Amino acid sequence: MLVLGLETSCDETGVALYDSERGLLADALFSQIDLHRVYGGVVPELASRDHVKRMLPLIRQVLEEAGCTAAQIDAVAYTAGPGLVGALLVGASCAQAMAFAWGVPALGVHHMEGHLLAPMLEATPPAFPFVALLVSGGHTQLVRVDGIGLYQLLGESLDDAAGEAFDKTAKLMGLPYPGGPEIARMAEAGVAGRFVFPRPMTDRPGLDFSFSGLKTFTLNTWQQCQASGDDSEQTRSDVAHAFQQAVVDTLTIKCRRALKQTGLNSLVIAGGVSANKALRQSLEQMLGSINGRVFYARPAFCTDNGAMIAYAGCQRLLAGQHEDLSISVQARWPMEQLPAL
Ligand code: KG4
Ligand code: ZN
Repeated sequence: MLVLGLETSCDETGVALYDSERGLLADALFSQIDLHRVYGGVVPELASRDHVKRMLPLIRQVLEEAGCTAAQIDAVAYTAGPGLVGALLVGASCAQAMAFAWGVPALGVHHMEGHLLAPMLEATPPAFPFVALLVSGGHTQLVRVDGIGLYQLLGESLDDAAGEAFDKTAKLMGLPYPGGPEIARMAEAGVAGRFVFPRPMTDRPGLDFSFSGLKTFTLNTWQQCQASGDDSEQTRSDVAHAFQQAVVDTLTIKCRRALKQTGLNSLVIAGGVSANKALRQSLEQMLGSINGRVFYARPAFCTDNGAMIAYAGCQRLLAGQHEDLSISVQARWPMEQLPAL
């Protein structure tokens, strides 16, 4: 089955062609980062309009790269939520219109299920069951995964998501949007141990997270440095390092706890923050110490992309799921509501 996948939940237009027999044939992405950077964050209306502009050229591009024609497409999968409603509606209406014109089924995919399954596109995919750490701009969740659609939420952020904490902290420190890669870049030059920040909620039982206090702690530290006349790039890097290390340690402690609680030793990390090198290293070390394994997607498939939507959609379409012609998207959509495959 050849599936066209469309991702438009936020500020990236992603398009891909996935074939159930031959694997990923082509994927293309247009990132709107430059468009939003001047505003310091995503402007929803600008995002929607840009998705409209990019969608058809990207579809033509993947068809050409894959050497396919539209007539060969068996189904269209699109992100139906969670995300920005206007942006989601662009993908949903394009998908439904094309599916109708081509006489093939369409299916709305859950964005976080897309992220969760993205490591399945790699050479050594994880096998069920596993624990998944989903860390994106909008979500931080620990989930027990027994199969596609068999999701048990173990813990989640009570306030900011991990990516959101990176983005907001970066902004407070005068770094551009999106802040995750910026902080990661600055942290590389940072001196470990000059500042030590708290590891929120690790001193009590449970698998929930809270990152907003850490953001304030970082701002206060940076402002104190500035007030004392020490606002050098080195100091900013040292603060970025301390912030990143606190997030990484906190996530690692909670992952170890989730693996112990479930008795599992496979961990999948997915979503934009799973591209973070310090996080990958820390989790690899922790999994090594318990004879386990950590799985993640290549960096381009950690952040938003069409390939994960084409893949997740294909699995559900193969199982016979599809939708009627209505165009409906959901800004909020708990992943546990998805039907099991
Ligand atoms: O999954 P994603 O592309 O979009 C959402 O579904 O939200 O995740 C984007 C988030 C942003 O907050 C971004 O700052 C963060 O992922 N991010 C990173 C890194 N690359 C992207 N955070 C930390 N380190 C990175 N290398
Ligand atoms: Zn995402």
